[in-house]
Amino acid sequence: MDKSKLSFSGLGAILAIISSAVGLGNIWKFPTMTGQNGGFGFILVYVISCVFVAIPVLLVEFYVSNKTKKIPAESFVEISGKKYWQILPVLGVLACTLVVAFYSDVIGWVLSYFVNSMTGSLNVDNIEAAGNVFVNTISNPVGVVIYQIIPVVAVATILSVGAVKGVEKIVKISLPLLLGILILLLIKSLTMSGAGEAIAFLFKPDFSKITGKLLLDALGLSFFKLSSGFLALATYFAFFPKGVSPLNALSKMLVADLIISVLAGLVIFPIVFTYGLEPSAGPSLIFMTLPIAFSQMPFGSVLMPVFFLLILAASFGALASLTETGNSYLEKTTKLGRKKSVLVNTSVLVVLGVFASLSTTPVLDGVTICGKNIFDALDYLTSNIMLPIMGLLLITFFLKEVNKEEAKKYMVNQCNANEKMLNILIMILTYITPLIMVLIALAQLGLLK
Ligand code: PHE
Repeated sequence: MDKSKLSFSGLGAILAIISSAVGLGNIWKFPTMTGQNGGFGFILVYVISCVFVAIPVLLVEFYVSNKTKKIPAESFVEISGKKYWQILPVLGVLACTLVVAFYSDVIGWVLSYFVNSMTGSLNVDNIEAAGNVFVNTISNPVGVVIYQIIPVVAVATILSVGAVKGVEKIVKISLPLLLGILILLLIKSLTMSGAGEAIAFLFKPDFSKITGKLLLDALGLSFFKLSSGFLALATYFAFFPKGVSPLNALSKMLVADLIISVLAGLVIFPIVFTYGLEPSAGPSLIFMTLPIAFSQMPFGSVLMPVFFLLILAASFGALASLTETGNSYLEKTTKLGRKKSVLVNTSVLVVLGVFASLSTTPVLDGVTICGKNIFDALDYLTSNIMLPIMGLLLITFFLKEVNKEEAKKYMVNQCNANEKMLNILIMILTYITPLIMVLIALAQLGLLK
């Protein structure tokens, strides 16, 4: 058998984890949250959350997968010798599957906007018209379902050739494409009259905005952004080539993801301020306000599809890592084989995704779970409930089942990890991360005000 197919190349490994981190989050979550929550102060809190919580959790994922060279379906039970730890990969697959249901829905909207931007039907000059286009897009049952299925099936088709080969194929196209488009749009944005205001909005530190809720938001974002706690990256770590240091790889991922988020902000906000738009939160910024700006801008009819292509490129790597968790789990635990596992997993993702996407249309918009429509309920369940539980379980696993000295020896000798840095991170993981995780869990349960 061709051994090279069993593990990533060195570059492929780093690109794979960067592509999982970079996603829709870089475009609509990070820049808006930064601008509204105190600029540089928020970035600082976010980076601290990454270093003290999200990265230590990823280090546990790395050790368990890389040591055993097995994906989560087998690695946790192998390291601990206890069957009940199978709960971790099961929850991981469940979390990733539920995230795909609403994540792919948003990718579908982007795809639909990409297509419509080329036909000129997104040329709007006021907020009412832009709002109508958005409402029409997300409430058309046939449209949302078809556009949501296309990216899921496209990613599945590429992944069906094999995890490593498929992922490398996707990331080697999507990341360079993303960077190229980002730089192109950046040149345009930074020469606009609103650039100065945008830079002030994004970076001006305002530490008075740092509240308890903000700390929680930053923590949640650090998990989501770095794909930490989902066991999505654990699947990749099993295929990391020998000698790639986890500390090196994870810090490259953090820095690259942060740079792309900041660059995305520097593309979006000069447009927002130049055209007097509202720097409001969430997807509405991309879907409701930017088309107005592009419609008025010189070369806007070319730049608008390029912008939506940028978001599509960013989302593909993240979608690959989210879907691969289920693909590889089925492949390992059943006799289906690669292609059928991908087929079964994709069918589940499509069915769940259809429910999520129909929740913004008249077909299912009356259905609510705990007062939220299906789309919002899935977002809340995964980020606010499942993720803190997963994080806590992963840390408990580390504290209870992992021999720290053995883990240290393995990472220093086999993975070239810097011993001093590793000691510091293990100390954080043992004492600080659990404390923060317990506080988050209490806050989520409403026991902490
Ligand atoms: N990190 C991705 C983003 O920012 C989302 C993601 C979460 C991907 C969890 C994989 C696992 O959009």
